[in-house]
Amino acid sequence: MSRLDSFIRRMSAQRDILDALPRRLAGVPGLVMEFGLGSARTYDHLRERFPGRRIVVFESVVVEAVRPRPAPDDFVVGDLPGTAAAWPDGCAALVHADIETGDAAADAALRDWLPALAARLLAPGGFAVSGAPLPHPRLVAEPLPPGVAEGRYHVLRRDQRSFGG
Ligand SMILES: C[S@@+](CC[C@H](N)C(=O)[O-])C[C@H]1O[C@@H](n2cnc3c(N)ncnc32)[C@H](O)[C@@H]1O
Repeated sequence: MSRLDSFIRRMSAQRDILDALPRRLAGVPGLVMEFGLGSARTYDHLRERFPGRRIVVFESVVVEAVRPRPAPDDFVVGDLPGTAAAWPDGCAALVHADIETGDAAADAALRDWLPALAARLLAPGGFAVSGAPLPHPRLVAEPLPPGVAEGRYHVLRRDQRSFGG
């Protein structure tokens, strides 16, 4: 598969997964957390799909020209997971993490903290959507939308156990 085809399939998978989330998250309270503003493509999409939810964006590199830019109170600048440490357990209905770099070692290192952070931040029944795998006992794999290939993007649901349980 060419790199162009691969890119298009990844973007389509992202969009199809994000589009299904408002229905799947109905009844789950909490924030939407966007890990990685990047070019703000998925942030803008989440704004359209979740007009009633607060969306908090975490980003280590601020590029002034990127638009839309979250409001200052909703834009957390610095390196995850340090910046996320202040956010309480179970505050999020959705964690969307699109923070891989393509560097194999750096992406493998995400496993040291990203699955546990997502599991901690999610409310019971909340969703984690990620380019990187999120192996964690509290996160259960969910079906992907039709046409999205296994392994391209990951959709998991936080189990219903309360914190500390
Ligand atoms: C692939 S881009 C995100 C693209 C975005 N979803 C979009 O649609 O435009 C990944 C972003 O995550 C940010 N990032 C990666 N690791 C991070 C970390 N540890 N803490 C905060 N931001 C991080 C990078 O600076 C980069 O802007």
